[in-house]
Amino acid sequence: MYDFRADHDLPKPELYRALGDAAAALVAGEPDPIANMANIAALIWQFLPDLNWAGFYRVLDGELVLGPFIGKPACIRIPFGRGVCGTAASERRTQLVPDVHAFPGHIACDAASRSELVVPVLRSNAVIAVIDLDSPLPARFDREDAAGVEALVSRIAAVI
Ligand code: SME
Repeated sequence: MYDFRADHDLPKPELYRALGDAAAALVAGEPDPIANMANIAALIWQFLPDLNWAGFYRVLDGELVLGPFIGKPACIRIPFGRGVCGTAASERRTQLVPDVHAFPGHIACDAASRSELVVPVLRSNAVIAVIDLDSPLPARFDREDAAGVEALVSRIAAVI
């Protein structure tokens, strides 16, 4: 059993540092990318409040394919350039979306989602996956969340 404590009252930079430390500890020595993504999705769910979906899409044969996640069943394949996830992958840039209804082409996997944060995972200069976080709260994510997930991504990119 792994029992990582998530203190939701921590300032965001500290919360994300604790999340990154827990993720690094969990993946240490484990080469299987699916196992590592599954545990990281579970950790994100445990550490970050007010989420309704958290997980990975992997790049396979030039499109995004659903990976380990917590939340409702989601659309399985997303072409590059489509939706928030496909935009993050094609632009290779974090997408911080305060209102998903205002994002052209947003793909609604859970009607409860109101805001979204998607961070691309790059390895050897190629996008290999994205992390997608959804919240039922409008404007749930800010620049500190984006920076926190980007820092997490840089710590785990080699093992997913
Ligand atoms: N909303 C995403 C699709 C994935 S689900 O939210 C899990 C998008 O627009 O790419």
